[in-house]
Amino acid sequence: MTEILVENELFHLRNDQFSYVFRLVNGQFLMHVHFGRRLSTVQGDILRRFATVPEADFDRNEFRLDRLPQEAPTFGYGDLRDGLLRVRGEDGSDSLNLTYRSYAVGANKPALEGLPSAYDKTSACKTLSVTLADDRLGLECRLYYTIFDDCDILARHVELTNIGAQKLNIERALSACVDFHQSDYKLLTLSGGWARERHMDWRAIMQGIQGVSSARGASSAQSNPFMALATSNADETCGDVFAFALVYSGNFRADATVDQYGQTRAMIGLNDEGFGWRLTSGETFVTPEAVLCYSSRGLSGMSHAFHTLCRRHIVRGRYRDAERPILLNNWEATYFDFDEEKLLAIAAKAAEIGAELFVLDDGWFGHRDADNCSLGDWVEDTRKLPGGLARLSDAIHGRGLKFGLWFEPEMVSPDSDLYRAHPDWCLHAGEMERLTGRNQLVLDMSRTEVCDYVYHAVADVLTRVKIDYVKWDMNRNFSPAGSAGFPPEAQREVPHRYMLGLYSVLERMVTAFPEVLFESCASGGGRFDLGMLHYMPQTWCSDNTDAHDRCFVQYATSLLFPQSAMGAHISAVPNHQTGRTTGMSTRSDVAMGGTYGFELDVTRLPDAEIAEMKHLLTRVKGVRNTLLYGVFHRLQSPFETNGAAWMVVSEDRREAVVTSVRFRAQVNRTLPCLPLRGLDPHCIYHVEETDERLSGDELMTLGLTLEYPSGDDVSCSFVLHAAHD
Ligand code: GLA
Repeated sequence: MTEILVENELFHLRNDQFSYVFRLVNGQFLMHVHFGRRLSTVQGDILRRFATVPEADFDRNEFRLDRLPQEAPTFGYGDLRDGLLRVRGEDGSDSLNLTYRSYAVGANKPALEGLPSAYDKTSACKTLSVTLADDRLGLECRLYYTIFDDCDILARHVELTNIGAQKLNIERALSACVDFHQSDYKLLTLSGGWARERHMDWRAIMQGIQGVSSARGASSAQSNPFMALATSNADETCGDVFAFALVYSGNFRADATVDQYGQTRAMIGLNDEGFGWRLTSGETFVTPEAVLCYSSRGLSGMSHAFHTLCRRHIVRGRYRDAERPILLNNWEATYFDFDEEKLLAIAAKAAEIGAELFVLDDGWFGHRDADNCSLGDWVEDTRKLPGGLARLSDAIHGRGLKFGLWFEPEMVSPDSDLYRAHPDWCLHAGEMERLTGRNQLVLDMSRTEVCDYVYHAVADVLTRVKIDYVKWDMNRNFSPAGSAGFPPEAQREVPHRYMLGLYSVLERMVTAFPEVLFESCASGGGRFDLGMLHYMPQTWCSDNTDAHDRCFVQYATSLLFPQSAMGAHISAVPNHQTGRTTGMSTRSDVAMGGTYGFELDVTRLPDAEIAEMKHLLTRVKGVRNTLLYGVFHRLQSPFETNGAAWMVVSEDRREAVVTSVRFRAQVNRTLPCLPLRGLDPHCIYHVEETDERLSGDELMTLGLTLEYPSGDDVSCSFVLHAAHD
């Protein structure tokens, strides 16, 4: 049950698992008191912890705020640490002194204007808003906190309103700050690069600042908008974890700063590098939403909270709970080299195997035979598709498959009709030579007319052709992030305005085409974040389709995102990115960790492999609902061991699917055992593959015995069913 208790100037938000507490000091400042285990009451004199700061001292003109744990620290008025907010007034000063004014409690979750955010249709959540203000600047600051009933998540964001007459400049507007009393934590971030997205990075924290950020215009493959502080004893199932993620897809920062007293300030929000926002009288600026998680059960508790958040409060639309179609994508099958005949042959084979959706990737429009032209001209290439998309779509549907199409709507090729007509519609900096990346430029989505073009270009195709699925790609970052649509003093607003423009297009899109399944992509998983998931229920995890490498990417991605959000396909061997060869069953077992699909030319496979694929697919379809929506447990970390293992358990605990991959072959060893998790200890499970009947507690204690085939990168997977009522 969620509660917000406000008593004796103490604000206490809690559900059944955790509490978040702050109080007023001296009637003015919001002091952070506690984020963690649920508390029944908070009566102690927390201020005593900051021994040199008797309450009365806050009247004196001293740097007292520099020691105080705070909810909304600012610059230039006593706190000498990095702050949440920095606003400059007309006199040039950024001294900001926000003091308490009022609070309100609501029984719902407000949406954030123009931005993706968590929602709650059940009214089981509660929201506290606290208003602060600075009279000198004429600035009102409203802090929002929502606590959910069904997941251990606190959503926070900030709204800044100019209630005076001055022109204000926001130089930093982060979304959440939590001051911890100590610094005995290790920091987890998800970092990497193209084809190596979201790997687990642990580091000790120490005095100074440490964290991750992106100034690339996208949340990025290099750093995900997420970080977690964990107690030194924390691991997969034990210890305290405090996690921070952002419901946003653009530039961000997430960091932990340890101060001179050994306190830790954790903050997350918009990256202030290159950021600025003019706020004139009457205007409000809304920060993206931060979602904070407290887990007393290590990383698994954190993941379960985030998975529930994604599944029930972030992802929307008809595919939120629906079975996702098993797709075949032609990218690695043909790249740009295809015609209608070739596509239909692949589609026919895909249908024979049992796939349900055929996706035509890049290369169907303009005269795009390579990645150097035509982005922006979303008209089919009749050299390749003489009957157009409509005829192809009809033929694909005629084979019993749904039809999906790739777009990269936010981009323009210099060699395109769109660019020739509107050379100023891309991000650029005045006369400076335009830098291409993958031979392309970024459309300036901060401009309304560009957003309108992008919306109509995609919507026209979706209206005239029967399309069931869209892969929405984005393959380069912003550099420079300048716009011809705004004056010099507004250029620092462009990256965030771009995101607002993109979100407005996506909102229009999903509203106009509610039947379409959207999958987001950015050179693989370069924009895998909670913001995009609000519009698109799944994201292509990585351009690296190698089963071995995918174990790492998918394992770490599962820290935050559920398996229903992760695009995962079986591709050809030798793998196109790594040259590695792995067996079909390993590739299938790894793809079962996500939405499952194919990305290879099935017309070239021998009959024996086609038969194996049919068999594997029939098995996947039999447990699809559990695979997509079951409770996910990581069992063995590829980052620490010679393999990876995970399992999913249906909500009623009557079905489970277990996967284990071994990387390097081992000889002359006992057979490994894999203790399971999340089963009903009293239930007897039938293990399909071994025909054993084992109790839940036996499986969770002694484990499943693993008999891998010989060789490297081999796997075993098991389907378990409750054997009796
Ligand atoms: C990106 C995507 C790929 C594919 C290509 C097409 O790299 O991540 O999956 O769609 O673009 O150009």
